Amino acid sequence: METEPARIIQGRCPEALMQLADDSIDLIVTSPPYADRRASTYGGTPPEQYVAWFLPIADQLHRVLKPTGSFILNIKESAVKGERHTYVLELILALRKREQRPWLWTEELVWHKRNCYPGKWPNRFRDSWERLLQFNKQRGYYRNPEFSGASAEGNQEDEQEDEINNGLDGNVLQLATECGNAGHSAAFPEELPAWFIERLTRPSALVLDPFAGSGTTLLAALRLGRNSVGVEPQDKYCQVIRQRLEGETRRLL
Ligand SMILES: C[S@@+](CC[C@H](N)C(=O)[O-])C[C@H]1O[C@@H](n2cnc3c(N)ncnc32)[C@H](O)[C@@H]1O
Repeated sequence: METEPARIIQGRCPEALMQLADDSIDLIVTSPPYADRRASTYGGTPPEQYVAWFLPIADQLHRVLKPTGSFILNIKESAVKGERHTYVLELILALRKREQRPWLWTEELVWHKRNCYPGKWPNRFRDSWERLLQFNKQRGYYRNPEFSGASAEGNQEDEQEDEINNGLDGNVLQLATECGNAGHSAAFPEELPAWFIERLTRPSALVLDPFAGSGTTLLAALRLGRNSVGVEPQDKYCQVIRQRLEGETRRLL
């Protein structure tokens, strides 16, 4: 079932993820609803309950991810009563401590939003970056030798345990924000999932976005010749995903 080029599951995590087999996914790239943010448009969870809401979803993601796969979580804590909330930090600690399904917090990359909006920022500077947290199930995870600088020979193995990274990439991604063409108020730019898909998967890979929104991750995967699966509860966004994928499929024909 996972061999379809792009599959949409209309449903909610964690339940919808139960349709996916153990160890079947090569890469997860996602941007979940941030705590309380846009609660009126597509749901939100109060910051105090965010970790408890996310953990059962994280357990399912751990189950479906291959041992050599990676999980990229785009998230940024909002400010509450004049200070940054700590729920993202608490989430990182809780994911590491999960008894049955512990995650390694491998890396934190930064998405620097080149075109962030000016605005009023009462007691802080203009918000112009978001977190891109990388989690893995084990130290050795797949990296594309074209980007990591690893030898093609060494990369025949499924793991690249502590291989030296000679690549040129840093951990700051300079990407403009999506400006409304994706049909979703919180879409990330296609270059964001594409950056990770190129670096962390092989051409035959299966990429998952458990909070698919307008399907940007699925579109990036399709353009890069990878298979994908997305979970999204809202009918209107599932339709947007279908339209975007169909448009791209027509373009490829
Ligand atoms: C930040 S948006 C994702 C945007 C996406 N990255 C894009 O480029 O369009 C989060 C999405 O998660 C969906 N969502 C909310 N709760 C969910 C749940 N429990 N399971 C799956 N998706 C959910 C929302 O409907 C929303 O479309």
